[in-house]
Amino acid sequence: MLEPFRNEPLTNFSDPQEKQSFEASIRKVESEGGRVYPIRIGSERIVTARKLDSVNPASPAEVVGTVAQVDMALANKAVLASAAAFESWRKIAAPQRARYLYKTAALLRRRKHEFSAWMVLEAGKSWSEADADTAEAIDFLEYYGREMERLTERQPLVRIPGEDNEWTYIPLGVGIIIPPWNFPLAIMAGMTAAAIVAGNTVVLKPASATPVVAAKFVELLEEAGLPDGVVCFVPGSGSEVGDVLVDHPLTRFISFTGSREVGLRINERAALTAPGQKWIKRVVAEMGGKDAIIVDSDADLELAAEAIAASAFGFAGQKCSACSRAIVVGPVYNDILRRVVERTKSLVTGDPKRAGVYIGPVIDKKAYDKISEYIEIGKSEGKLVAGGKANDPSQGFFIEPTIFADVAPNARIAQEEIFGPVLAFLRAATFEEALEIANGTDYGLTGSVISNNRAHLEAARESFHVGNLYFNRKCTGALVGVHPFGGFNMSGTDSKAGGRDYLLLFTQPKVVSERL
Ligand code: NAD
Ligand code: ALA
Repeated sequence: MLEPFRNEPLTNFSDPQEKQSFEASIRKVESEGGRVYPIRIGSERIVTARKLDSVNPASPAEVVGTVAQVDMALANKAVLASAAAFESWRKIAAPQRARYLYKTAALLRRRKHEFSAWMVLEAGKSWSEADADTAEAIDFLEYYGREMERLTERQPLVRIPGEDNEWTYIPLGVGIIIPPWNFPLAIMAGMTAAAIVAGNTVVLKPASATPVVAAKFVELLEEAGLPDGVVCFVPGSGSEVGDVLVDHPLTRFISFTGSREVGLRINERAALTAPGQKWIKRVVAEMGGKDAIIVDSDADLELAAEAIAASAFGFAGQKCSACSRAIVVGPVYNDILRRVVERTKSLVTGDPKRAGVYIGPVIDKKAYDKISEYIEIGKSEGKLVAGGKANDPSQGFFIEPTIFADVAPNARIAQEEIFGPVLAFLRAATFEEALEIANGTDYGLTGSVISNNRAHLEAARESFHVGNLYFNRKCTGALVGVHPFGGFNMSGTDSKAGGRDYLLLFTQPKVVSERL
């Protein structure tokens, strides 16, 4: 009998044994930097002439691994292989499919620190952020396995005499999985696991910045015995092969997490019908955010400062859920600003290979340039009160955690997703105005309210228009099963990853009625 789902515990790195064990994992992973990772299509393992060196953003000269790259022909071949594999995979009973996920979760749990160490090196995550990412990946595997088993139970229908009626969930077909780099294990593994446990086969195109973590996960699926072709692994440039995968007539659905720009492009292309296509493609697109924390005039100020700093600067602000706007009701504005600035100045930044580092680098040169540009824009839109500097990018893509005060609600740094360690402080005269400012962007992903006023919390519950709303805590760190995750408006299709409705997106219900 399977244990009920419970979230994977996080590691306590103040335990000297855990610290030593994590340091050993970093050394092990460093020693594997010379490996080449192949493309996987059906039973073939292909190493192309064209390869990508995936580098450590804290030290760009350090190669984490070298990954073969697909071209358009190989991308096309992967969709065909995936369609062939679907014919046998869809017939595998759901509990058996779920067991592949449980086995993968068990293998991952045994090598937890090793996978986290890969994320320290390839994504620049701090130890705790990497550990939480691995724990979330384990959670997705365990949770979606159980969810699929639940969906195979006899579903409730109104019964009538003389007929046997049955409602079942069947898979869709070939799915294209396009994850982002910022949760290189958890989101990638969760999107893949949900689709395959529902009986689909997938073509997984990992994010170009973190293909090694994805390759390691695919190796783990193989070790768990997953049949060839259920997951085809096609690392490559999204702008080069994305359209081929999305447009293919055999593509049945696209599961995407990433920027608004790419998500909308995929949605538009998927709406077109290719010659030979027999279905309307389904798109699950989870996109960006411009998330806000509102601080009320009667709030616990220490709690507010802690929530803002953690939500804004954890993983250098590179989370869709990150707080990029602190909206403070008048009387406590100066006090909160001072406390957040103090906390921010004490955050340890540096190479995340070192224990205790809180903020590492941003992911790559493109992100470094984009964030630096926003910092320049911020200098004309607000008052720089913390950070603002970046170091020589050839030595690592480090940018100081940066705060701008007195920013107007319509300023670019208060409207556009920066996706880096940049926080704007905005002043509101009343709580009602704070809510209006919070809702005044195109996005609607996460938000928090720090308040002791019950009427204000109820007003926010009703009208703060975000998919994940938190009270008196940070706006990052959603837990699988506890805080199903997804956003409104331009934040996406609100799929609620890690929730009970998620697998329905990768299935179609079939009703069979037999006259008795
Ligand atoms: P991105 O859109 O640049 O890339 C995401 C994926 O799309 C990558 O795998 C990339 O290779 C691929 N891609 C790029 N161009 C493509 C194309 N033309 N066709 C098909 N695929 C293409 O995003 P990113 O930089 O990897 O991730 C950061 C973004 O993701 C931020 O906007 C962040 O808010 C968002 N995000 C959202 C969530 C959520 O749950 N809402 C979670 C994590 C990240
Ligand atoms: N699910 C992630 C969080 O809540 C993005 O921070």
